[in-house]
Amino acid sequence: MILANDVPGIEFVHVSKTKPVLLGDSIKELEVMRDISLSLGKGEILAPIGPSGSGKSTLLRMINRMEDPTLGSILLFGQDIAGLNVRELRRRVGMVSQTPALLPGTVADNIAYGPSLRGQTCDVAKYLKLVDLEADLLQRPASALSIGQQQRMCIARALANEPEILLLDEPTSGLDQTAAHKIVTLLSVLNRDLGLTLIMVTHLMEHAEAVATQVALLVKGQLVEQSSADEFFLEPVTEIGRKFLRGELSSDEH
Ligand SMILES: Nc1ncnc2c1ncn2[C@@H]1O[C@H](COP(=O)(O)OP(=O)(O)O)[C@@H](O)[C@H]1O
Ligand SMILES: [Mg+2]
Repeated sequence: MILANDVPGIEFVHVSKTKPVLLGDSIKELEVMRDISLSLGKGEILAPIGPSGSGKSTLLRMINRMEDPTLGSILLFGQDIAGLNVRELRRRVGMVSQTPALLPGTVADNIAYGPSLRGQTCDVAKYLKLVDLEADLLQRPASALSIGQQQRMCIARALANEPEILLLDEPTSGLDQTAAHKIVTLLSVLNRDLGLTLIMVTHLMEHAEAVATQVALLVKGQLVEQSSADEFFLEPVTEIGRKFLRGELSSDEH
């Protein structure tokens, strides 16, 4: 018998993706993802890793339908996301980008944005506290915060939608080490306290090692291995994985 708890939070089933690129004066379909199958349990933290251009952002963007697969399907708790209402999908699957995406107005306006789209209000102070920001910041213009605070505010804005999954694309790469460390610690706490499933792209292996329970190594649009983070950082299963950890894999070679 399959119990509801056994349904993965996210599942990729033979997902491929081509994108049109202009080569000279003709348009060619470039294969950016080939036959990816992976699954992630509820409450896990997945770090997609791999050289630049390997398809990490594309993988993330397909989960909230900013892009769609060319072939294959993506399931959210067993439901094919192609059949879900996009706005509801994006409520259930939050996205935090590399550079904080600010909406006009105050911190409170930013946090309340998602629920306001649905004609709802929310306890903005609660979400501010969840991301460890001081309550007196609520009425400040969002643009007056430091970059690290803005990124935490963006996480609070995503949390105000009560998402089931949070996607983060290199959320620390624009931050100094202290601010980056705070975000990484915060993500672990949110995962532990809220049981939130997280997918965080990062190029910093110390961050992947610090927070991830699973890693998915992508190289040139192919999934080289999906392993538990503990096992991967002890010893990758594949030679490509070992080369990647030794820093011997550039974006140009397999
Ligand atoms: N809008 C686009 N049009 C065409 N090709 C793109 C576009 N965005 C990304 N690509 C290509 O898709 C591949 C994967 O990119 P991306 O998912 O951004 O990789 P990563 O996040 O791992 O650096 C790369 O070869 C990149 O050049
Ligand atoms: Mg990227």
